[in-house]
Amino acid sequence: MSGKLSEREVMEALSQVKDPETHLSLLKMNMIRDVKVDEGRVNLTLVLTTPACPLKGEIKSRVEKALYGLPGIRQVEIKMDANVPAQRRPLVDNLLPDVRNSIAVASGKGGVGKSTVAVNMAVALARTGANVGLLDADCYGPSIPLMMGVMERPRSAPGTKKILPLESYGVKLMSLGFFLDDNSPVIWRGPMVTSAIQQMLGEVEWGDLDYLLVDLPPGTGDIHLTLTQKVPLSGAVIVSTPQDVALIDARKGLAMFQKVNVPVLGIIENMSYFVCPHCEHRTNIFSHGGVRKACEKLEVPFLGEIPLDPNICAGGDEGKPIVIADPDSSQSKAFMEVVGALAASISVRSFLPEVKIIN
Ligand SMILES: Nc1ncnc2c1ncn2[C@@H]1O[C@H](COP(=O)(O)OP(=O)(O)O)[C@@H](O)[C@H]1O
Ligand SMILES: [Mg+2]
Repeated sequence: MSGKLSEREVMEALSQVKDPETHLSLLKMNMIRDVKVDEGRVNLTLVLTTPACPLKGEIKSRVEKALYGLPGIRQVEIKMDANVPAQRRPLVDNLLPDVRNSIAVASGKGGVGKSTVAVNMAVALARTGANVGLLDADCYGPSIPLMMGVMERPRSAPGTKKILPLESYGVKLMSLGFFLDDNSPVIWRGPMVTSAIQQMLGEVEWGDLDYLLVDLPPGTGDIHLTLTQKVPLSGAVIVSTPQDVALIDARKGLAMFQKVNVPVLGIIENMSYFVCPHCEHRTNIFSHGGVRKACEKLEVPFLGEIPLDPNICAGGDEGKPIVIADPDSSQSKAFMEVVGALAASISVRSFLPEVKIIN
């Protein structure tokens, strides 16, 4: 046996381990904490930038590999933890100080499955252990209450004027739908939309959140432009179907966010393909893959594809999202992959100085 393993040797070995995505040293990213070295045994905590990290296993094994390469090592024990960094945008800090990332879910046009995707992403993120909120900002068709299976009037928080969000499947919720007495259509004018949404952000007791998803009304018109300027957003995700028409609208959405300096974290292809439930044959409806290609061209992350599936639709109608109703299904896995990619896209941004401060 060689000599005793020193803390200096351990730190030296750890300083060589890099994050697979940012290529920065894990030590520099402050992801390795509480290192203890005792008689050849190393204990440490690996603090990920998101509990939804798709590279969890890879990062852990890089650390293990580096340490087991040291002479005198007997045992490595790694405790996993996560601490989601906040996207620093002044507007977000002021209006939502306890929300680390507020992410708009947008689409160029209606009916592409924006709300379905928003709901399943929120539940999928919560399943990884993150603190998640979902704000239904689609005043023209608030569908979150139905899709999440809650319909109550929110109460105010004791001792404050703030409203308590409702909660379903581990996700905090707020929707204008909770305040409407019936299904009669509400005629909203632009300024009303903006102020209603600002109230649902600032006057709701969201508490500490890692991710707040905001389901925006579909479209890229003037109202949306104002909204994206007035609502504190740290980034946006665009949902599109693969058809050219939807993609053209998605591009308009991208241009809109870029105009107001809201970083686009990626695009998701919904209703991408169909897997026959009987024979498992996969059929590409529309022109599958269009979004991925568009992302490459536009240099925006592609966050993944969700199949067209009757169970996804049924989950929405029954108020039980597929990620909850059938967590091990391939459809749910598709959503878990999408949130992994989204969380990674957010984490990477918070470590890239050149894209950190916008505004
Ligand atoms: N991947 C999918 N597979 C099957 N049905 C879907 C899928 N995504 C959405 N839908 C269905 O399409 C309709 C429109 O979806 P919705 O989420 O309300 O769209 P949007 O919010 O963009 O208007 C709903 O009936 C929904 O259940
Ligand atoms: Mg919707």
